Amino acid sequence: MRLTVRYRFAASHRLDTPALSSEENRALYGKCNNPHGHGHDYSLELTVEGPVGADGQVVNRGQLDALVRERVLARVDHKNLNVDVEEFRSLVPTTENLAEVIRQGLQAGWTLAPRLVRVEISETARNTFAWEAIEG
Ligand code: NI
Repeated sequence: MRLTVRYRFAASHRLDTPALSSEENRALYGKCNNPHGHGHDYSLELTVEGPVGADGQVVNRGQLDALVRERVLARVDHKNLNVDVEEFRSLVPTTENLAEVIRQGLQAGWTLAPRLVRVEISETARNTFAWEAIEG
C-alpha cells in the first residue's frame, strides 16, 4: 500500500553559484539571481509504502507528521534557505537540490515502518521535481 501526504512550507532563496561570475550567474539563473532573493510557497508530497498494519493503516499519521515537522519543516519553513539551512551555504538552493536535502534529512532520521519511496516538491504551479526510490 502506498500513502502520499502533502505538506506546505514557505521559504526564500537566491540562485547563485560562487564558481561563476556575476554576469554568468545572471545569465544562468535570470530573475532567480536577484541579489536579495525571493520567496516560494512550496508543496511537498511524501509517499510511503508498506503493508497495512493491524490498525488498518500503512503508517501512523501522527508519527509521520511529527517526523516531517522535526526533520523538514522546522528547518525550512519561513526560512532563508541560503542562510538558514547549513547545506545551502555550499550548494545552490535549486528545487532539485532542495528535494535531495529533504530526502537525505528524512532518511537519516527515518524511524517509521514503511519505506519512503517518493519525495516530490512543487516550487510553483508550473514545476514539480521528484526523487523516487529504485524498486526492491
Ligand atoms: Ni525561486
